Amino acid sequence: MSADYTVQGSVAVVTLNNPPVNGLGLETRTAAVNAIRQAESDDAVRAIVITGAGKAFSGGADIREFNSPKALTEPTLHSLIRVVENSSKPTVAAIHTVCMGGGLELALGCNYRVALPGAQIALPEVKLGLLPGAGGTQRLPRVLGLEMALNMVVSGTPVASEKLAGTALFDEVFAAGTELLPAAIAFAEKVADVRPLPRVRDRKVDYPNHEAFLQFSRNTVKAMAGPFPAPLECVETIAASVTKPFEEGLKFERERFLHLAQTPESKALRHAFFAERAAGKVPDVPADTPVRKIERAAVIGAGTMGGGIAMNFANAGIPVTILETRQEALDKGLATIRKNYENTVRKGKLTQEKCEQRMGLISGTLAYEDIAQADIVVEAVFEDMGVKESVFRKLDEVMKPGAILASNTSTLDLDRIAALTSRPQDVIGLHFFSPANVMKLLEIVRGKQTGKDVLATALALSKKIKKTGVVSGVCDGFIGNRMLEQYLRQAFFLLEEGALPEQVDAAIEKFGFAMGPFRMSDLAGNDIGWYIRKRRAIESPDIQYSKTADLLCEQGRFGQKTGAGWYDYQAGDRKAYASQWVNDMIVRHSADIGVERRAIPDAEIVERLLYALANEGAKILEEGIALRASDIDMVYLTGYGFPLHRGGPMFYADFIGLPNVLASIQKYARGRHGAAWQPARLLVQRAEENRGFNA
Ligand code: NAI
Repeated sequence: MSADYTVQGSVAVVTLNNPPVNGLGLETRTAAVNAIRQAESDDAVRAIVITGAGKAFSGGADIREFNSPKALTEPTLHSLIRVVENSSKPTVAAIHTVCMGGGLELALGCNYRVALPGAQIALPEVKLGLLPGAGGTQRLPRVLGLEMALNMVVSGTPVASEKLAGTALFDEVFAAGTELLPAAIAFAEKVADVRPLPRVRDRKVDYPNHEAFLQFSRNTVKAMAGPFPAPLECVETIAASVTKPFEEGLKFERERFLHLAQTPESKALRHAFFAERAAGKVPDVPADTPVRKIERAAVIGAGTMGGGIAMNFANAGIPVTILETRQEALDKGLATIRKNYENTVRKGKLTQEKCEQRMGLISGTLAYEDIAQADIVVEAVFEDMGVKESVFRKLDEVMKPGAILASNTSTLDLDRIAALTSRPQDVIGLHFFSPANVMKLLEIVRGKQTGKDVLATALALSKKIKKTGVVSGVCDGFIGNRMLEQYLRQAFFLLEEGALPEQVDAAIEKFGFAMGPFRMSDLAGNDIGWYIRKRRAIESPDIQYSKTADLLCEQGRFGQKTGAGWYDYQAGDRKAYASQWVNDMIVRHSADIGVERRAIPDAEIVERLLYALANEGAKILEEGIALRASDIDMVYLTGYGFPLHRGGPMFYADFIGLPNVLASIQKYARGRHGAAWQPARLLVQRAEENRGFNA
């Protein structure tokens, strides 16, 4: 049973019971409808209390039903709410902990609502590019008024129940510590004979001069919504609660909901929502795999990455010791961390007290003995196998048995690093992204011998430090940087053929990327790619690269840190100014290699950069480096500024249609530098089957 039915005195109690949050899936809806009918036909029952078992009143629609015909199978949520609203006996929603989405819409269909304080009340559908589709936009303004309802629906942000006490949403918000069910039953008995039954739908939304307010809201929301259509649709449906009779408003809401559900933006948001949840699951590491305890951490290296990584531990309340080779480097690293926290305090996002608390969790040392008892150590020293070797040999010697030895390497072979120790099962890659205290992505690199419990611990840790952990196998560049290399290769080829950095950046930023490839390279440092290309020239001399980036680096133009890169920079300013020297160099280089420059359409730029990502992503998938296409999408959404409304490179390729993507790639394969366009076998196969990567 996913809704329980009991009778206490003259009150029937219907308890939604579908863990973890009483999602209103088909079985729960069916059971709830049956329970209400039973209560109606039971002569001993005078009133009905609807509540939720366990940790929620109801979190809303059952997400497991999304994209399945079950959501539209009778009784739908609409039908359930209609049954509740039309009940001949008074219905009382007894709300606690979580009351969101469809759960709140159900409560609004009841005659009365009582709540415990501290319950999270929200209509969060907008976060999935939707709007509340079961009457929420019509009923909420009728109890909260136009302004407050609009804010809640457009933002999707939860509001605590006690903050809504005194509004018509709640007939009573009980004192803290009240036992909900007996109080709700007492309330139901009190109102059992009141007729006519009060219904939210019969209320009016009074707002003098509502048109002016709505117009103001449209303007503000439009400016904030970016590429997403849902927030503005929320305003329009809320407007209907004032301008249209209830039934018409409901019909309009339904229509706009169905429209939004079909938009690519909503599909992308829903994809990202599921992708995030899927990323934490590894088929051969079941959810009940034991995890190791992480109560103390250590970080080796107090440079750019080490400092940020240490902050992650401190932010999660885990004491962390940073080890350096020299006192000056250690002092500098610790000072940078303090500066970072103090900036956050200045912005009002952290209290001075919390800042001190966190700094208090971070200590520094030059001696390995001081970190020997840590449960996990993350190495973030120079990207050099020799240096890593000396560090891992030392860690193997001093760390207590069972400690996890992690490396933040971005390019080196994790299996080689693991083999330097006598405990390869304890070695794992934790690839953070810069700035490590800010970026959401954590690539968790699973070596050949990494223990399942170590992987499970890393996944649990990623949640604890509020990162999106995505598991990657071992390969050069792992998921993200391996794909990025192909993306950058195309960006550089485009320069040779006729584009300039500002055109490429503008085209891809218009598509939605936070930053184009050239601005991004200037931020990250052009020397990193230069170093990798030099290594490639020795390891795989057949791979073709444009020389433009090398010509740039030969001038010491490493990016923002040297004050010049693909763009010029002015001191104390991150703004990129087009560089005449760079643009001349690019044009000269085309002439030197005998390429006649042509005007390259923006559409070609976007296509080449995105298909380069998706094609390499397909290879990563077919090699089993990534577990699923949606993991690759998560890497790009959370680590590389890929636009959320496009859903990630693999989702975007699915959206375009893999046969179309393949056809373009085959066309490029016949063109200049065609060798860069070998289509992935998986792409060819899926295109033939007319199936997506994510299908
Ligand atoms: P960095 O040069 O800023 O910092 C390295 C630090 O390690 C320096 O403070 C140095 O004094 C210290 N160090 C060197 N040898 C040491 C040793 N034997 N024992 C203790 N400390 C030692 O370098 P960064 O950028 O922080 O990179 C560190 C690692 O993180 C590298 O493996 C790099 O590939 C990786 N990484 C870097 C990213 C970035 O954007 N900078 C992104 C992701 C990973």
